[in-house]
Amino acid sequence: MTSDPQQPRASTSPHEAEATTQDNPPLFEKCHRFFDPSGDYAKIKANDLYPYFRPIEESEGSRAVMNGDELIMAGSNNYLGLTADPRVQEAAQEATAKYGTGCTGSRFLNGTLDLHLKLEEELADFMGKEQAVLFSTGYMTNEGVLEAIAGRNDIIFSDKDNHACIVAGTQASLADTKRYRHNDLEHLRTMLERAAAERPEAGKLIATDGVFSMSGKLARVPALLDLANEFDAALMLDDAHAIGVVGRGGRGSASTFGLKDDVHLITGTFSKSFASIGGFCVGDRDVVEYIRHEASTHMFSASMPPSTVATVLKSLEILRNEPERLDRLHEISDYMRDGFRNLGFDVWESETPIIPVVVGDMETCFRFWRALIDEGVFVNAVVPPAVPKGQALMRTSYMATHTDEELEEILDAFHRVGHKLGVIGTNGHG
Ligand SMILES: Cc1ncc(COP(=O)(O)O)c(C=O)c1O
Repeated sequence: MTSDPQQPRASTSPHEAEATTQDNPPLFEKCHRFFDPSGDYAKIKANDLYPYFRPIEESEGSRAVMNGDELIMAGSNNYLGLTADPRVQEAAQEATAKYGTGCTGSRFLNGTLDLHLKLEEELADFMGKEQAVLFSTGYMTNEGVLEAIAGRNDIIFSDKDNHACIVAGTQASLADTKRYRHNDLEHLRTMLERAAAERPEAGKLIATDGVFSMSGKLARVPALLDLANEFDAALMLDDAHAIGVVGRGGRGSASTFGLKDDVHLITGTFSKSFASIGGFCVGDRDVVEYIRHEASTHMFSASMPPSTVATVLKSLEILRNEPERLDRLHEISDYMRDGFRNLGFDVWESETPIIPVVVGDMETCFRFWRALIDEGVFVNAVVPPAVPKGQALMRTSYMATHTDEELEEILDAFHRVGHKLGVIGTNGHG
């Protein structure tokens, strides 16, 4: 579409002041529609209920300053509370001083530091696997592993609630992808049986989150492994919310069932327990080396910066040496789950420090979130399609460094807001 370059385009965008005289290609019409004054975005913004992209002005782990107010942070994935640990911060600073601020290249070419190799060795050792490979984010890890390991002739069986990066990986892989109903292993079995009958020669991979990021529920690892073995499939667990959180010494979802050694591929991220950014995959030597040489997200993107690698190395050392952090994290999670249930909230089937508190429709969700901010508590507002319709929720999550007083304040705030908005006693089995 061409327009008179002297005439600004007609737009309902709130960014009107920035609109120029440039052409307005049809491609972008959806972008302008998104900001239509009668649309959800504009209404939520106008009522000061928009819960996303809130800047944090200061943070010391369990507390953060936003808009000048100090809030209790019950919406981070900083499970071990290590972002504010002086030992971790010092390690990051020393690495910056020694290696500089960035690697300016991919691992493949100029971006491999001795620190990267050390971290790969330590992670393989921690997870009891032959080899580890690093990626620059958790998202790139899952996308890259799937793209590398599965191809046109293979079939991926993927849980419908898997994280977006697994979905991206299945698409990038070009493999035939079957999505089974969330944690429904009868459905998965039916798919595997059909695949075995129709395409016996195809390579098969079952991919699932080890801990589901919205519900805090564990994958059914023993039954998944049985199915994988029965149908000659590999099993891949995305343990983003599991390593450094659950299992023996924080070794992840399979470890909670004593099955870590039997799972073929385990991926993890450094953006949660490990207080940084980046990700990794562990498994057998040949498989991991193949991924290192085939995953585009590893080969063609710059490597983890020195400070982040040093942060993860120090966090891993602390995880190994201070098991009391995990004990405290589990104690807190049990306490909060019971606390919410006793107040009459529905927390689904959470089994980890991720505790969803269901509040109902989208508008109630945003109002609930806003009221919690006014009470001094930050959580994440989660609405469909990330959760089923009518099950919008406050995603709460905890860290080993939350104090008892902070936990009480969080529960008190939920109690008051829950009553005020009529959610308590109306949303499930409370
Ligand atoms: C289950 C799961 N996998 C992968 C990721 C991506 O990790 P990252 O944020 O480190 O890229 C996330 C992030 O939230 C996640 O929840």
